[in-house]
Amino acid sequence: MTENVTISIIKADVGSVCGHTRPHPSMLEKCNLILKDATKDGLLTDYYVTHVGDDINLFMIHHSGENNRNIHELAWSAFHEATYLAKKMHLYGAGQDLLADAFSGNVKGAGPGSAEMTFTERESEPVMFFMADKTEPSAYSLPLSRVFFDPFTTTGLVIDTKAKKGFDVEIHDVINNKKVVMSSPEETLDILSILGDTSRYAIKKIFSRSGLGPVAVVSTDKLNLMAGKYIGKDDPVCVVRAQNGMPSVGEYLQPFMSTMLVSGWMRGSHYGALYPCSPEFSTPTYFDGPPRICCLGFQLVNGHFQGLEPTNAEVGVHIPIDYFAGSEWDYARQNAIKVSKFIRTHGPFMPAILGPEEMEYTSKPGVLRNLTKRFENLE
Ligand code: 13P
Ligand code: 13P
Ligand code: MG
Ligand code: MG
Repeated sequence: MTENVTISIIKADVGSVCGHTRPHPSMLEKCNLILKDATKDGLLTDYYVTHVGDDINLFMIHHSGENNRNIHELAWSAFHEATYLAKKMHLYGAGQDLLADAFSGNVKGAGPGSAEMTFTERESEPVMFFMADKTEPSAYSLPLSRVFFDPFTTTGLVIDTKAKKGFDVEIHDVINNKKVVMSSPEETLDILSILGDTSRYAIKKIFSRSGLGPVAVVSTDKLNLMAGKYIGKDDPVCVVRAQNGMPSVGEYLQPFMSTMLVSGWMRGSHYGALYPCSPEFSTPTYFDGPPRICCLGFQLVNGHFQGLEPTNAEVGVHIPIDYFAGSEWDYARQNAIKVSKFIRTHGPFMPAILGPEEMEYTSKPGVLRNLTKRFENLE
């Protein structure tokens, strides 16, 4: 297969049952039906519908390229239909991420998050889908830095001749809407000095420097600055290709055994520890969290997903590898709870809460306004 294939993940939170928990099954079913029809009509070659916490994730494969109007409209209409159901049930946050009144050519800037990449499928093409809830796009910067820049995480950077050539990293400034491409290993330390500011910079895309094309892509759509005002953060997805000149599946997963603090927990205003789990157990329950990370894997075969499903399974019926389902991740989960519990002891004090410019909710300006007359100069 030499034809380019595009993977598009478009995701949105359009309502959940009793708080920011998980979508109603009928909403997922509706999305499934809409994508199934689009596959039968030939717009998609294959698809998979899933969720992490309250976010619905549409995995789509097609030959229409990135930012394609028809693909984006398909996702928009699926979310629109799911919103209709959510509103009928009076679910919490029904239609939360559909910020525009009508579709206008692309979901970008309209609320849903998207991560897309186009490449020539290799003979064996393992693809992994990371999905996070109660956090923001820069949450992937630390683990991806470990995977792509740190030979103590990815031995492949030392022993795989293609991976050893390094990677080009596209970094987005989500506040100024600018991007820069930097090269690793030469500029690794400069890359880290930028990415360390997780409130502003995030990895968008990573490319192979040995001609294999894009290797990783993150949804960096940041809801909080849309429409010129703070609306909320965006629970991000990250798609990666693995093995043979790229990090191996296991190298991608390794960083998640170490506990990482990410922003976006509870009211989008707190730090919490990333908790690896199966989508099945991704309902956030402890203080609306802790922030979840799930990872599903498929082989790509001629534009189709190949998982553990029986051959000749019905269109769209897939059984992915669920990487964080197993008991080896119990250790990471326990640690994430321990760290989250510790940071919660700080209550409404920093560093449990985010810096003032990042808080999704704050009553501070009003409090300060009321106190204007009572504030006196110091002696
Ligand atoms: P196998 O020898 O089991 O194929 O594993 C090779 C590998 O690279 C694992 O990361
Ligand atoms: P979501 O962004 O997942 O809807 O969560 C909102 C929130 O802040 C829950 O506390
Ligand atoms: Mg929600
Ligand atoms: Mg969410």
